[in-house]
Order: sequence, then C-alpha cells, then structure tokens
Amino acid sequence: MCGIIGYTGNRNATPILLSGLKSLEYRGYDSAGIYLPAVGVCKAVGPVENLVEHIDVKKWKGTSGIAHTRWATHGPPTEVNAHPHSDERGTVWIVHNGIIENNDALREGLLARGIEFRSDTDTEVLAKLIGIHYQSDLYKAVNQTLRLVRGTYGLVVTSHECPDTLLVASLGSPIVIGIGNKEHFVASDPSALLPYTKDVVYLEDGEIAIVKPESYQVFNKKGEESKKTSTLLDWSVNEVQKDGFDHFMLKEIHEAPAVIEQTLRGRLLPEIGRSKLGGIDSLIGDLVNIKHMTIVGCGSAYYAGLLGKYMLEECASLPVTVEISSESRCQLMREDSLNALLVVSQSGETADTLSALRRGKEAGMLTLGIVNVVGSTIAREVRAGVYNHAGPEIAVASTKAFLSQLTVFALLSLFIAREKGMSLSEGQIMAKELATLPEKASKVLEQADHIKSIAEMYSKATSMFFLGRLYHTPVAYEGALKVKEVAYVRAEGYPAGELKHGPIALLDEMVPVIALAPKDETYQKMCSSIKEVTARKAPVIAVTQQNDREVSSLSSAVIEIPETIPLLQPILSSIPLQLFAYYSGISRGLNVDRPRNLAKSVTVE
Ligand code: F6R
Repeated sequence: MCGIIGYTGNRNATPILLSGLKSLEYRGYDSAGIYLPAVGVCKAVGPVENLVEHIDVKKWKGTSGIAHTRWATHGPPTEVNAHPHSDERGTVWIVHNGIIENNDALREGLLARGIEFRSDTDTEVLAKLIGIHYQSDLYKAVNQTLRLVRGTYGLVVTSHECPDTLLVASLGSPIVIGIGNKEHFVASDPSALLPYTKDVVYLEDGEIAIVKPESYQVFNKKGEESKKTSTLLDWSVNEVQKDGFDHFMLKEIHEAPAVIEQTLRGRLLPEIGRSKLGGIDSLIGDLVNIKHMTIVGCGSAYYAGLLGKYMLEECASLPVTVEISSESRCQLMREDSLNALLVVSQSGETADTLSALRRGKEAGMLTLGIVNVVGSTIAREVRAGVYNHAGPEIAVASTKAFLSQLTVFALLSLFIAREKGMSLSEGQIMAKELATLPEKASKVLEQADHIKSIAEMYSKATSMFFLGRLYHTPVAYEGALKVKEVAYVRAEGYPAGELKHGPIALLDEMVPVIALAPKDETYQKMCSSIKEVTARKAPVIAVTQQNDREVSSLSSAVIEIPETIPLLQPILSSIPLQLFAYYSGISRGLNVDRPRNLAKSVTVE
C-alpha cells in the first residue's frame, strides 16, 4: 500500500522517480507527488499520469528527490493529503507508507504547541515532528521522532539543507535500497528498481539508513551500524512491462504455462516420483514428524491454502487447518513445535499474514512460507520456505501467483508424502502429471476468445454465482473474488451442495452461474446441482473436461479444459475463471489492472 521511490546520484532524478512511481502505481493510485530539493514539490490527485502532466521536464532538474503514490488511509484522496509532506519551515520533506497509530495524540501535542496542519494525514504529523527535532543532523532528528511513534512505516526523508542525503527507515512496511554506480535508489518494492539495478538491500524492522550517492550506512535500533549483505534480484525488466498485452492482468494470465514451468523447474524428479525443494530439504525430518499444519493467507493466498489442505491431507496424511490471516491469531497461541505454520503470500509483505507468522513464531511453531517476492519480510522471517518463482505480479488482482501457489502446494505435498510412505508409482503419476501442466495450461489459453464472448454475453449481469465441489470449491471462491475485484460484480463462490440450503433463493434468469464440473468423483453431483440451477432459469456457464456430454447439454455455455489427475485439475480450471473475470471487467469498461479501492500489497492490518 502506497508506493515510495527515492533517488540520489548524478543523473536527473525526475524521470527516474516518475517511472518508478508508474511501476509502483499498483500499490495505490489515489494521488501522487514528488519533491526535488533543487526544484520543489508537485502533487496531483488520481493516477501518476495526472502528476506527470503537471511536471515540466525542462524545469524539473535535480540529482536527488523523493516521490510517492498513495492509497488513502488518513483523509480523503485530495491534493492536500497527497505526499510528500513537510515540516513547518518547508525544510524537511517526507514520503511514508504505513500507519501511525498514535497519530491523534501526537497531533494534539503539536497543535498545543501552536503547530498548524494542512492535511488530515498521519504522515504530516511525522514530518512536523522531524522538523522540530532537526537542528543540523537529519539522522538524529529521524531517530528521535521514531522513538515517539507507535505504528508502521516505510519512510524516506530529505531536506533541502542536505539535498543529496536520503534518510530511510522501516518498521512493518518494506523498504529496499538499490545499489548503483555512485548512485542509490530507495523503493517500497524492488520491482521499481529493475531498470536501474538488481543489487538490493532490504531494511529490517527498526533499521534506519543514511543513503548518499557514494555510500549507504544502516543502523539498528540501538544505533549501532549493521553490516548488510545485498540480494541479487532474479527478475528481468521485461517482466515488469506489458509486453504487447493491453493490460498486466491479461499478460500475467497468459504467463500461466511459463509460470507453472518456472515453479516446477529443477524441483521435479518424475522418474523417481519425487520433488526436491531446496529451501526446506534440510527440514524433512521435522516435516515428517509434525502432527498438524496451520495454513494462513489472505484473499487468493487463503484460497490457495484451502486447496493445499486437500493436497497435504490426501497425499501426505497431514491434518491441516486453513485460516484467514486476520482471523487466525488467537488459535495460534495454542500451538507448539509439533505444529507447523505455513504462511502463503505473493508479496511477502501482507500485514495480517505477517502478524499471524509472528504469533506462530512466538508460540514456538515450525514456520514455513510459500512466498513469491525474494527477500520480502515474510520470506526473511519464516524458518524455511519455498519461493514461487512466478516473477513480479503487477496487476492488482492475483492470477499467476495463485497458480504458482497451487503448484508449490502440489510439490510440497509430494515432497512430504513420499517420505511418509506414498508409493513410487503414486509419486510417479503425480510428478508426471505435474510436468504436463504447462502444455495443458496453453490449451486452456487457446480458448481466450471464446471466454471473452461468454463474458461479453453476461456483461449486464449484476450478480453471479460460482459453484464447485471438493477441490473445486476453493476454485469457485477464487473465481468469485476475481470477478468482484475487476468487474465490480457481486459474485459468490459456493460449495454446490450448499446452494439448496439457502442461496438458491437468489437465482433467476438474470443471475449467471459458473459451474465447475470436472469429471471426477463430484461429476454426477455437479450435474444434479446444475439441474437445480437451470430449473430456476439461471443460465449456466460450465467449466468441464473435453468431450463432456451431460453437463454440456444442460449449460448455456461451456468451457472445456484438458484433463489431469483430480487434485491437480484446479490448477487448470482456475485459468478460464481468470480470463472470464478479466473480460468481464473489460466489457464493463473498467480499469482491470487497478480496480477501485484496492492496493496490491496490503501492509496495514
Ligand atoms: C486477490 C488478491 C488478494 C491477495 C491478498 C494477499 O486477487 O490479489 O486477495 O491475494 O491480498 O496478498 P499476498 O499474497 O501478497 O499476501
């Protein structure tokens, strides 16, 4: 939430900051702003494009600066509330991501001292406090201020009195320093730095860094200098560009075959029916002995966890509970070392998931992660984990990361299962099927135009249902979430069998029902559910396997997907639902990459 970028070096900072803001825009797009000590400040409401229109590039020249794209928390999305904010004298300027919890008390204290505020933001409180403490040492001023603050922050501070110095601090909101040649970059997400450097250093909680063109120094909570090792990003610049697609979301859906392949690469041993997961290999002894696993995640990551539960329980006989991160904290207090906690997060920064992880650590659980962003806070804090290798996901709605999460769950289940007694032949079947998924995913994508026409047919629908059974219930939840997010349609994901226990009252000819009907043990029951739906005149869009007759004869539209083993089928059946959501959003004229009110990385609880 909120994107931050800073630069200090020898180039003109303006294009670097503006292009950085563009790539961070998925973190928030309520307003944007920029400050260059050599020029001044400029802010605009709405997307970064609006800010760009206000900037006269001939005049905006300076070798350092900070910029911000906002997801509003304190105060509406107005120009006054846009960052950067300054102290009373206009000397110190800051950009901030996070929430200052004792904002009200601090603000009252400042008001009592006669300090006036322009905005409603907690960030301005921080700026005013830093200004009060600032004599000649910006590090000291930031340090003193942060001791008064309760809450979370990713913070970049500069001053026109020391224009080439950026003071950077992090607590509960990510900040990464990019290392260049006689230049440094700062950002809330490493993807913004890819055009300039892949060599990055993540700040740990409580650290403050002094960043200058030639050097950076990091200090821990006690004020001692920390020696940091840099991480090399394995993403490429192409991965953060649209590459000829109209939207990132469409590009990322079409990356499905490549993403599954990348997730599997080097990890699958089909001949011996095993998987190899470098990040957790050394823990296999513990994993075999654990009695219970709790999986936590939010949104799509939570739904991936629901499917992970089926995989782990059925393949590895490991009892699993799945919890929404923000709901899970009380239960975790009861856990211990025979219980593992597996956190699932694309960004590795989701505040609710991070909190759950920390509770689990406190309770002595074995903590594991399935995380996409290398070096992110969750990745650093879990005892061990598996990276998705899905590449950067830019569209706000998760698509490719969800598929790779499911793929990692399959690898993990196979990994533990084979140690716990799954037979060679069962292992081989699963591993060989996994290896076929990239090609089968390509076949699903060939139907993009067909799915587009179905989405267009129902572009006036204001309400929808997604139905599945067993392994396809989480797929139904996820399909409904995608449609809510990018098409703003009230969509409910439901276990098909539950429909008749209440929600069927909502069905009529205006409510399309997307029915997931693979040819597994649920098929006949899904046929019955579909008949219940059509009896209420609701149109059915069925996702089923090739050469199906019964479901097809009952449905208004059919999407056929290739067959694989039942536990892996959801990886394929999720793809048409992603395309359906995308085209549903497009047919309603919506900005699918940046849906209203949302942000990609939710770093507030
Ligand atoms: C849905 C979506 C969100 C995220 C959720 C968790 O399309 O993107 O529901 O899945 O906010 O985010 P991560 O995985 O980054 O923890």
